[in-house]
Amino acid sequence: MDVRFENVSKTFGKSAVVDQLNLASDDGELVVLLGPSGCGKTTTLRMLAGLEDATSGDIFIGDERVNDIPTQNRDIAMVFQNYALYPHMTIAQNIAYPLRVRKIARDEINRRVNRVAEMLEIGALLERRPRELSGGERQRVALARAIIREPRVYLMDEPLSNLDAKLRVQMRGELKRLQHDLGTTTIYVTHDQAEAMTLAHRVAVMRAGKLQQFDTPMNIYNRPANRFVAEFVGSPSMNFIEGRVDHSSYKFASDALTLDLDESHLARLSGRDRVTLGIRPEHIEVSTADHPGWLAATVYVTELMGNETFVFLRVGGEKIIARASAEFRAEFESRVFVKIQMERTDFFDSKTGLRI
Ligand SMILES: Nc1ncnc2c1ncn2[C@@H]1O[C@H](COP(=O)(O)OP(=O)(O)OP(=O)(O)O)[C@@H](O)[C@H]1O
Ligand SMILES: [Mg+2]
Repeated sequence: MDVRFENVSKTFGKSAVVDQLNLASDDGELVVLLGPSGCGKTTTLRMLAGLEDATSGDIFIGDERVNDIPTQNRDIAMVFQNYALYPHMTIAQNIAYPLRVRKIARDEINRRVNRVAEMLEIGALLERRPRELSGGERQRVALARAIIREPRVYLMDEPLSNLDAKLRVQMRGELKRLQHDLGTTTIYVTHDQAEAMTLAHRVAVMRAGKLQQFDTPMNIYNRPANRFVAEFVGSPSMNFIEGRVDHSSYKFASDALTLDLDESHLARLSGRDRVTLGIRPEHIEVSTADHPGWLAATVYVTELMGNETFVFLRVGGEKIIARASAEFRAEFESRVFVKIQMERTDFFDSKTGLRI
């Protein structure tokens, strides 16, 4: 079932924590709400769940306007940031609870409990009580209790946040596969951009209650709507250099460095003076040897990640980050050379932040 927000706002006191949100999922789509802490993700989800009233605007599930429909009649299943398990019930009873209240047959309940427990690797915990579980185990139980139902929509608020890195990657794969197999529309909240990129059919990037961009992970990464999206998605972050365009000499010049532009840059930058150049770390080459036209840089620090190296550099007065191969080695403060792949640069309006 598709989900739709039409001009939805939520204000607490004076401040709008969700501001004129327009967002529509397709049926069966996995939409991720992504943004920094406090940007309004949970509030958005809580309004869809009916745990919070929208101050204005309309919320639809399918063709039904749900603003005035109580939570229990919205036919949604949710896992929330602050999930609560029933302390006196076993794990199996906790997971089975949503089916029991719907009077599903015992055999069917057992079959489904075992299936989700296996998927989330909590099969060995079924006879325990919640207090006998670790935080990550409890979180998986909460997730199991949500996905055991087959509702119209799943709502998930950081359901993997308490898991270690390995389990997180594994569970995110399981969730993606489950969502695909069931084809149930899912609204998934996270501030983890890697999770958003890997899970989502489309990502809705929010900032301070405002939707910044709603698009496929590919477009969010390659065609960010503005500087905020460009900076938030990708790790390490995109580099930004403030500067001026000199249309007559085909140059982009910051206080610290000067870069050559070509015809296509100038066409894009027509009529502009101050702009922000954006370049992703993977589009900066680093070498300990000099090459014609490369820029001299100083190594601030390097971080070996195992399969690659992040190189933090100073070029003139600019601090930039480049991704180099795992074999790249350089001492602190050593001199290296970089090439900015100018054909891969983005430009942003220095005032509005919008991508040019
Ligand atoms: N009941 C409330 N009363 C007043 N302000 C609130 C209330 N609930 C949330 N807020 C504020 O609304 C803003 C958005 O909160 P929300 O929980 O939606 O953020 P979030 O994007 O989910 O953040 P996080 O990633 O930290 O979970 C925050 O500034 C928060 O302080
Ligand atoms: Mg939240």
